[in-house]
Formats: sequence, structure tokens, C-alpha cells
Amino acid sequence: MTTTITDRYAAAKEALDAIDQGHVLKFYDELDEQQQDSLLTEIEGVDWPEVAALIETHVKNKPRFTLPGSIEPAPWYPYEVSDAVRAKYIEARRVGDQLIRDGKVAVFTVAGGQGSRLGWDGPKGTFPATPIRRLPLFACFAEYIHNIQKRYGVAIPWYVMTSPLNHADTVAFFEKNAWFGLKQENIMCFPQAMFPAIDLQTRQVLMSAKDAIALSPNGHGGSLKALYTSGAIADMLQRGVTQLSYTQVDNPIVRMVDPLFLGLHELDGADMSSKMLPKAYPKEKLGNICVVDGKVTVIEYTNLPDELAEQRDEDGELSFKCGNVALHALRVDFVEKLNTRPTETGTGGFALPWNRAEKKVAHIDLDSATPVKPETPNAIKLETFVFDALPLCETSIVYETDRVDEFAPIKNADTPEGEEAANDSPESSKQLQTERAARWLEANRVKVPRRADGTVDAVIEIPQVTAIYPEDLKDAKLPRAIEPGAEVLL
Ligand code: UTP
Repeated sequence: MTTTITDRYAAAKEALDAIDQGHVLKFYDELDEQQQDSLLTEIEGVDWPEVAALIETHVKNKPRFTLPGSIEPAPWYPYEVSDAVRAKYIEARRVGDQLIRDGKVAVFTVAGGQGSRLGWDGPKGTFPATPIRRLPLFACFAEYIHNIQKRYGVAIPWYVMTSPLNHADTVAFFEKNAWFGLKQENIMCFPQAMFPAIDLQTRQVLMSAKDAIALSPNGHGGSLKALYTSGAIADMLQRGVTQLSYTQVDNPIVRMVDPLFLGLHELDGADMSSKMLPKAYPKEKLGNICVVDGKVTVIEYTNLPDELAEQRDEDGELSFKCGNVALHALRVDFVEKLNTRPTETGTGGFALPWNRAEKKVAHIDLDSATPVKPETPNAIKLETFVFDALPLCETSIVYETDRVDEFAPIKNADTPEGEEAANDSPESSKQLQTERAARWLEANRVKVPRRADGTVDAVIEIPQVTAIYPEDLKDAKLPRAIEPGAEVLL
């Protein structure tokens, strides 16, 4: 039996009226057929009973964070290799290398965010990120994948989560760039689900146009469902992929496939593991990877009490030192199980906690249908976070990484010229990329000019297709020294 547009309208109206959100269809009769179809498709994509429940719990009320009874620092594997870990790391590296060589590892880039802080017109992955070639983020990742594929002689499937807002533009970008020389059949882009913005005062779902709800992506936590519903997990199982390397779209130097991290995660039988950066100072704006009631759990920096954030061990090091940088390894069957296991309500699937944020959301006025651009936050957006799946793991490990080696995120817009680079901006990222390149060259006995404050007095770019470790430059043709102020592309 085919469903007519009249049936779809009736079902949508029933679902919306049941939760007092009937205004979503207010302009329906004024729309042409295509617009009606598009609005109904949006309505059908939203879980309305969940919206109603969340209006009660997260819009009418501000859920308070309750500090768990027992919070301990998470144990972690150190970045520096010492006698204590050497044997384990050798074995882990062997296991990680084997996983990759056997085609059991896929990479996953979450690229569904709106990138509002950066303010780039287009998907964030299309942003020019490197200091000299201005290579877009997606192209940086493609170079990394090319390198790994060559090194291990294996195809690495690449899954990219978009959102309905940037999906078409993302796919068009891959197409325009001929899939960056990778095989199209090994790249799968799929959109995540969306959630409506709710007016803070009226608690009504906002409309962005007569035929559109003000929807935004439901947070990177939505990736764990989208991986399953999109068929990506089924595709991985069919390919024999057992481990997924999760990375964000904003970091051009991320180690997309790290054999040691993957090997430790596999050896310890972990479901989902995390890389951490030692926090530079107690209240650094990174989630704190802790252990709560025996489970690895991320506590946001705003929720960790000062006395814990500032607590130090006998060596003077921060006790709660593990900063979350959103680099994870996930077992494919763990993600599958999350989506298929029975729950208390017997519906299957899983739920991550929702987080509320007050935001400025442009919309139309429901009486006049004119656009409204709020000056102050007018709406609640709700998102789930991927790290909230950590407490659902039987086992979860943490491995330390190094800032310069793999953390040069681009989140904020650049400051005006002449001003100091903002944190996590295109400029700070380029400086970090140059610093990493400089260290790799210095490790290969190239003289790099440095200013009195230690910063590199040059701009250097090493394509990841050439090197992803300093030792990859061993046989490269390198200059003996770099001139101060030079631009050097290796
Ligand atoms: P951020 O928290 O940096 O958010 O996302 P954002 O949306 O990119 O940027 P702002 O906050 O609007 O400026 C971290 C990572 O999670 C992805 C982003 O694409 C980025 O890789 N993400 C975020 C999603 O894939 N979906 C979401 O709903 C949110």
C-alpha cells in the first residue's frame, strides 16, 4: 500500500497535535507540493514524543549536574615509552599493525557540526587548513589515508558523518576533487539525525521558514546511532572491519590510524577507548577523563569542582590530568550492540544523556512569517556527546598523546591581523603544524631558525602523504638548514 501525501499530513498532524506543536503545520496550505513534501519529510525525521519529553526535562527545567559520589583520576598509558610499558607497547604495536594490515580498521570522521564559531561558508571539512598549500581538511585526511594504504598495502574504508545541512555540499566537494584519488567505493558519507530548536519562552518548536523547522544536528553523540541506521556498521561487518578510529573534522594533523593506540585498545579488550592530552592547567577547557563508580567517564571542565581540578599528586602533577580530545577507538560490535541490545522499555537501542545549550536561533515570526534574527539567546538546542558512551563500556582504556604531534584543531575564527592568534584558530593551527614539521626536521638534523621565544621563524609544511612520523623523512631529500622567514614545502 502506498502512502499518499494526505496520509502523511494526517500522521504528522496527529503526532504534532498530541504534543501541542501543531503550529509546525501552520503554513502547510500555502506551500506548493514540493515544499509540502519537504516539510513532511522533516517532520517524519523527528522523534516527537522524545521532543515532548525533553521540553519537560531540559527546556522547562534546567537539569542540574549532580556530582557523583566517587570520582577518581583515570589511569592512562603514557606517551613516553619507559621500561614499565616497553614490552606491552611492542606487543600492542605488533597487534595494531596486524589489525591494519588485515583490513580490520576503518576511519570515521564526524563532520556533521555546524562550525558556527569558525564562520566558514561551507562544510568545515572544505576549510583550507595547511600553512602553504592551504589544503582543505578533507584533503589532509585523504593524504593520511593514502599514506597508510601504501604503508600497509591495504584499503582503508573511510566513513564520513555529515548532517542534512551539509551533506549535499560535502558529497559535491568529494566529487569535485575526484574523491582525492581514493576509491569512491571505500568512502561512505551519511547524514546524522537532527533535533528542533525550542523557543525558550513559548517552548514551541521554531520554524526557520514556512516549509522548514529550525533543525540542527543532534550532537556528535548522534554518530553512534547514525553509524547503525545508515548501514555503515553493516558495511563494516561485511568488509570484516572490527575497529573504528573516530576523529573530528577540525584537526589537520590528527593521527587517523594509530597502530599503538589501536593495539593497546585491542589487547586490553576495550569497547571504546580515548586518547588524552595532559591538561596544561587545572581549568583548561577540556573534558576530564575520570573514573566514576568504576567506569571511565568524561566530566566537563565546568562540572569538575575546583578542589579536584587543582588537586596534585606527590610529584606535583595534576591528579585529574587527562583532557579529552575526542579521539577514540571503537569496536564495531560495541556500536552494533549499543543499537540492538534490549533496553528496559524493550524497544532496543540505547540513549545518551541530552545536553542543553541556550543559543541564538534565527527563525520566522509565526504571525507575520517574517524573519527574526535574535540578538540574545532565544532558544534551546539539545545535543548528545559521543564520550557519554564511555560509561557503557565493559572496558575502556586511555592513552596519552602529544599536543604538537597531533592536536592542531581549528574551531574559532582568526583574530584581526596583527593581533595574537586566537586559541584553536586557523592561525594557531598553522603555527602548530609548522612547529610539528620543525621538530621532525630537527630530528633529522635540519637546522631550523627559531626566534628568542623558541617559536619557528619560518613556515613549513610536510604533506602527510610524504610523512606521518619523523622517521619517514630519513631517506627524503632535506635541506641542511632553513633560512629565517622562509616558506618551505617539502
Ligand atoms: P564541535 O563541538 O567543535 O562543534 O564539534 P561544531 O559544530 O563543529 O562547531 P561550533 O561549535 O558550531 O563552532 C566537534 C566535532 O564533532 C562534529 C563536528 O563536525 C566536529 O568534527 N559534530 C558536532 C558532529 O558531527 N555533529 C554534531 O551534531 C556536532
